[in-house]
Amino acid sequence: MNAGWIAASVSGITLSAIKDMAMRSAKVAGAASLAWGVPSFATPEHIRQAVARGMEKDEDIGKYSLPDGLAALRQAIARQHLAATGIEIDPDRNVVVTAGNMEGLNALFRVLIEPGDEIIVTDPGFASHFQQIRLCGGRTVFWAMDESREWALDLDALPGLVSDRTKAIVLVSPSNPTGKIFSEAELRRIGEIAQARNFLILLDDPYSHFTYENQSRYFNLASVPELSGHLAYLFTFSKTYAMSGWRMGYIVLPAFLKAEVLKVHDATMICAPRISQVAALAALTEEPVHLAAFEAVLARRRDLICRRLDAVPHVFDYVKPEGAYYVFPRIVAEHVDSFQFAIDLLAAARVTVTPGSAFGPTGEHHVRMAYCVSDEVIEQAFDRIEQQFGPA
Ligand SMILES: Cc1ncc(COP(=O)(O)O)c(C=O)c1O
Repeated sequence: MNAGWIAASVSGITLSAIKDMAMRSAKVAGAASLAWGVPSFATPEHIRQAVARGMEKDEDIGKYSLPDGLAALRQAIARQHLAATGIEIDPDRNVVVTAGNMEGLNALFRVLIEPGDEIIVTDPGFASHFQQIRLCGGRTVFWAMDESREWALDLDALPGLVSDRTKAIVLVSPSNPTGKIFSEAELRRIGEIAQARNFLILLDDPYSHFTYENQSRYFNLASVPELSGHLAYLFTFSKTYAMSGWRMGYIVLPAFLKAEVLKVHDATMICAPRISQVAALAALTEEPVHLAAFEAVLARRRDLICRRLDAVPHVFDYVKPEGAYYVFPRIVAEHVDSFQFAIDLLAAARVTVTPGSAFGPTGEHHVRMAYCVSDEVIEQAFDRIEQQFGPA
């Protein structure tokens, strides 16, 4: 053991609790896991077919692409971005194809952060963002959401969190882990503050296609033209196209930032996997007919998990999620902390959840449950929870 070899930035973080719980769960035979947000769906047939055709006919499919991605894919991304936001972008100057949003965010944090710089994150927010910021020597500044107001943002508190070390804010709407959809007014206000105080908005977008009956409330901040110099928009194919294992995403960003991000991307990835770029091109070129079916299934599972949560008020209290596919209940049952609760639940009831403390200080005494798993897993998990805690 040579602990001295390990850089403080790495020894100072832990494996994300989401993956830690998934790995613990894999060792428990028959565990019902609500820990990891991997959709149960297969990648749609037309995408797999396009890749199969490419494997057959495209001699270059196994080669590197240019670092910023295949030209045809970047053009398709520009068309998609125009359709989604009304904003025209240049595929050469404003697009980087990435190996998923995690890779894109990592490149951006490396570009932005000097040791001691600050990144504002919602609390609760996505655990892996925090780890990436810390790996770069940055400080996470937590912006607490208010559970008593259905996880609303406290806009009055934001200006007070901005300092001369603030480089960026990370936003995810609908949110992981709360499912909250931020309103247009809230997002525009954040945009004004970012412009006035001159920091970057990192808009991480895995879940904008999962908004259920709240679709009209969803607003894409990347559609505000005045913000184009202060915003990087990151889209991932992982959830919308059930492509989490393909590792595929893209960033739309100002040209001066693309040049910097490309240095990090090239030094670490060279390019996103070309075979996955072929899959992404098929995803963007064909009508996403699968999406209505995905959303209908997820809406049914959201109803199911809420119904099952309603039946255990002595164990959990919760705010109904508006979008994405997570619910973030508060633990009402007697417990020490959310980590111990999750460990004990897995050991005693073979149910896997992610401890809320991983999502920031406000997340303590909560757990995150992902309802993108099959109905059977949700039913089994709650049958076991009911058995473990007895009747209400
Ligand atoms: C907020 C958020 N960002 C990023 C990711 C991961 O994205 P990708 O698979 O594109 O790296 C997830 C996955 O759960 C997520 O919830």
